[in-house]
Amino acid sequence: MFEKLKQNESLTVYKPEVLIFPTPQEVDMYAAKIFIAQVKLKPNSVLTLPTSSTPEGMYRLVVQTYKELGLEFSQLTIFNLDEYWPLAPNHEASYASYMERNLFQYVNIPPSQRYIPNCYADDPQIEAERYEELLRQNPVDLAILGIGPGTTCHIGFNERGSSVNSRTRYVLLDEQTRKANARFFPNPEAMPLGAITQGIGNILETGSIMLLAKGENKAWGIQRTLEGPIGNEAPASYLRLHPHVTFVLDQQAAKLLNTSAA
Ligand code: GLP
Repeated sequence: MFEKLKQNESLTVYKPEVLIFPTPQEVDMYAAKIFIAQVKLKPNSVLTLPTSSTPEGMYRLVVQTYKELGLEFSQLTIFNLDEYWPLAPNHEASYASYMERNLFQYVNIPPSQRYIPNCYADDPQIEAERYEELLRQNPVDLAILGIGPGTTCHIGFNERGSSVNSRTRYVLLDEQTRKANARFFPNPEAMPLGAITQGIGNILETGSIMLLAKGENKAWGIQRTLEGPIGNEAPASYLRLHPHVTFVLDQQAAKLLNTSAA
């Protein structure tokens, strides 16, 4: 059963900043610029970072700039949004492997300052509680997010039905998420049924948020998120309860927005 935000709940609703770029490459460039600016502004920033296909271009440009300018990432702390559970250690589809391939192997963030839920923990709920405690000790300055496929509107792996106050926990994946993400698994049959994800509550506690979306297949979700009712039928819509959110979209992802006349 889906619930809309109750009328009498004393939550303030904000209007996110929406930036629309002509191409996906320009989304990558803008996202990388914000990432680098954050590190320059506050070298010991704590960042929540996403995975999957959308941020790959951003990571490529961050690594390129890091090398060109000889930047220092040694004081950064990274919290990943989510991780599949259970998966074998070093599984190529794990988000730990993804972060190694796309960012960690190239930059000097000490391993002790990189946090990702453990995909082979014995008990996912205990692992989620451990992660939650680490997040409590390290307030996040900037969270960078993607948005889930189809009509899921998920952020992290907060699927439809997630509560606005949800914390880091084990969740079951939506059937649409499983279908869309099967492409990352050599044997799609072996894809886990669940994941450990930061909750909506964790995401809303961060200092600022940047959500990236590219391509036509995100257009429905972006329109629903920004222009539909705020509620757990579209978890990304909860971002409208945060005062400092920027949606960075390419024209395809923005094409169903009423305000998209760019
Ligand atoms: C996964 C992640 C999400 C991400 C989504 C989008 O489901 N858990 O955090 O936003 O993928 O994937 P893609 O960027 O490949 O469209």
